[in-house]
Amino acid sequence: MARIVIVSNRVPTPGRRGVQPGGLAAALGDSLRPGTLWFGWSGRVVAETPTRAELVEHRGVAYAMIDLSESHYRGFYAGFANGTLWPLLHARLGLMEFERADLEGYVAVNRAFAAALAPLLRPDDLVWVHDYHLIPLGAELRALGVQNRLGFFLHVPFVPASIFGVLPCADLLLRALMAYDLVGVQSEQHRRDLRNAMDEILGARAAAGGRIYVGEQSTRIIANPIGIDAAGFTALAERAAGRREAKRLAESLVGRALIIGADRLDYSKGLPNRFEGFARFLHRYPEFRQKVSYLQVAALSRADVKQYQALRRELDRLAGDINGRFAEFDWVPLRYMTSALPRATLAGFYRMARVGLVTPLRDGMNLVAKEYVAAQDPRDPGVLILSKFAGAAERMADALIVNPYDADSITDAIARALTMPLAERQRRFETLAHEVRTVTAQSFYAAFCAALAGTPVRRLALAEKGAA
Ligand code: G6P
Repeated sequence: MARIVIVSNRVPTPGRRGVQPGGLAAALGDSLRPGTLWFGWSGRVVAETPTRAELVEHRGVAYAMIDLSESHYRGFYAGFANGTLWPLLHARLGLMEFERADLEGYVAVNRAFAAALAPLLRPDDLVWVHDYHLIPLGAELRALGVQNRLGFFLHVPFVPASIFGVLPCADLLLRALMAYDLVGVQSEQHRRDLRNAMDEILGARAAAGGRIYVGEQSTRIIANPIGIDAAGFTALAERAAGRREAKRLAESLVGRALIIGADRLDYSKGLPNRFEGFARFLHRYPEFRQKVSYLQVAALSRADVKQYQALRRELDRLAGDINGRFAEFDWVPLRYMTSALPRATLAGFYRMARVGLVTPLRDGMNLVAKEYVAAQDPRDPGVLILSKFAGAAERMADALIVNPYDADSITDAIARALTMPLAERQRRFETLAHEVRTVTAQSFYAAFCAALAGTPVRRLALAEKGAA
């Protein structure tokens, strides 16, 4: 079987337990097989970007990691990836900033990644590149003569062509995607949007087998939803429920129902809307005061990007407002924390929570929704409140689906969740759990690799062309 080479900006720190950066790294980590090579950024910022990656081996998986220079880090990560592409792909044009210098940094880092990765590749490797940081990587590898099958997966949403077209280099990025043999996105909606952008902006032509052509280049776009290691997470939650942290939380609740939210502190997660929905709940349903406690874990993220700093200030203020308005001397309605919690601790907390609040304004998939379901006790399951704009909602219609732009819809859903009869909770849980157990991290990984392995080899196609 061909070796899989994963490339992503974030690489999980080999051997580290507890808090890992981002859902992408955790989800991929769940399905890693020995023999895999994982290439990416070390997380370190140094004086100059080196030309070679540092290799570490852990449990049969080779990790190749490269440092970034301060200026590369700024242009690539803080600038173009998270100051331009992230807001654009989350349809937040008002937050998007574009600087040509950042774009240059973004392309330069992709070129540096390609130059450090190419010498590590074997002819039959399947190379699988992840997320918006690395869109041009495939084209940079091709420019170095790499003929391997190359796949790309976008973990974040895609947007309608008219929004994507606002980006001054929209055509450059779409052309870069054409260098891959296979492009995956999380949902049917995002697949349609990307396909339309290819048609409208590049004038792509459809061909047999779902492939599209732009000039001589061809690719295929598929929807391949990501999941979690459902069985593993359920076991983690069962174990964690008996641990010290879970007991401490239970004691502090003194019998009150727990509402939980756990997100990176990111404007795509809709946290101000969620806080507003909760405040209206306390206002409109005073009988629930003293009876609930809402724990929001908002782990600090991208703290050197200014939009994130502004959001943090806003949330600090809103949390203070809510508690100032509704708290009583022996009850604090909102527990808001910005430090991250280990996945195992969260798993135990999810299991204890009567309500899981997952209300992003836009999200590629959102794995917290799936983790919350997997953590539940089937005999007495909690209720998932899920935004219709999370990719997860496409296949999890038995959650209480809300529009997070309408704070009252969050308010109503909280009230409904807290009063839902056991039989209804169990019925909804069963269908959601079925989805979470069917579309897993493992099925995601296997389906993408199989589809990539099944794409035509470029090398042969080129050789045949030369012979003709
Ligand atoms: C999202 C992105 C990932 C990213 C993660 C954490 O899940 O899709 O690519 O790694 O956020 O963000 P960070 O900027 O810390 O890598």
